[in-house]
Amino acid sequence: MSLPNHGANPKQFAEALAIKLPEQSEDFSVNTNPFGPPESVISLLASGLAEAASAYPDPHGTALKHAVAAANDLQPENVLLGNGAAELIFLIAAHFRGKRVGIIEPAFSEYREACEAYECEVESIVLPAPWELRLERILPLLPDLDLIFLCSPNNPTGISYSRDTIVALLQAAGDHKVYFAVDQAFYDFCLEDVELQSLLADHRRLIILRSLTKMYAIAGLRLGYLLAEPGLVQAIAHRQPPWSVNGLAQVAGEQALKEQRFVKQTVAMITAERERICAELERLAFVVSPSTVNFYLLSEQKKQDMKPLLLFLAEKGIVARHTYNFNGLDGHYIRLAVKQPEANERLLAVLREWRER
Ligand SMILES: Cc1ncc(COP(=O)(O)O)c(C=O)c1O
Repeated sequence: MSLPNHGANPKQFAEALAIKLPEQSEDFSVNTNPFGPPESVISLLASGLAEAASAYPDPHGTALKHAVAAANDLQPENVLLGNGAAELIFLIAAHFRGKRVGIIEPAFSEYREACEAYECEVESIVLPAPWELRLERILPLLPDLDLIFLCSPNNPTGISYSRDTIVALLQAAGDHKVYFAVDQAFYDFCLEDVELQSLLADHRRLIILRSLTKMYAIAGLRLGYLLAEPGLVQAIAHRQPPWSVNGLAQVAGEQALKEQRFVKQTVAMITAERERICAELERLAFVVSPSTVNFYLLSEQKKQDMKPLLLFLAEKGIVARHTYNFNGLDGHYIRLAVKQPEANERLLAVLREWRER
């Protein structure tokens, strides 16, 4: 059994490492909101379960689409709902079947999986640490590409690229008629709002991806959306199966979008905890990526395989995300979630133990 391709799979993780996790283990490889879904979403799901489970959902998700459009100051025609952002990534890859796709890495592994599934020619553009987005590295490649994927805030580094940098790349891509997909699955965890949706009016090759499964902790329900120019939305939607977004997800999504206070509170708590933990980790002489979100990369000063630490943590009941399947990281980092203070303390205690061995 190999290590899981994604976080949030402690069972496969333990089997792959041939270890038994302690009873009270804590999964730091999962990167959804550690506070769980908003109360209002949970109660709506409970009360609407029978109806939503038995009836066919609205195939167009009309009410939710309107809510997403309003939240982004766009029209419903700019919105495509998906069974998680993951479905939308595969729909984008299907739309660009057989074309040449650049992926700025390290990044979420599903861009590559999806593009390869649709026989695209994938060009890896690997940014070396500290993962600055240097345009001079990317611009020469544009004439040979049809589509570029950028993950910002980035999974796994947690880095958020500035709006100016993204706009510069978008403009350069546009000059070469290259489509530009920016995955903002984690954008609502950032203190700073890097809004890109207002660029859609002038950039018909821009595609913005968002997920509701992270901030609202509804990964099991599956819900994401894509924002683009209406013609592109229609073309990408063409291959989507009917009723892709289930009724419960639609109801939950509409309610979640009303929960702006919950988002603000989450961001404040995550930011404070992230800053506290990262300062402590640096005191322990670890290197921490300059994350803006609810996870970060941890490494040693002198880059080395992190498997011994991965194993040590697991034996102490801390499941971390390995980085063997992230191009450019190659196991020299581990990704850790920012959790609630008690869990973060437990992690810090185990890392202190590691240092004191
Ligand atoms: C960067 C990024 N994009 C998209 C997704 C998929 O999200 P969803 O749960 O909405 O399918 C993930 C999931 O981990 C992710 O990390």
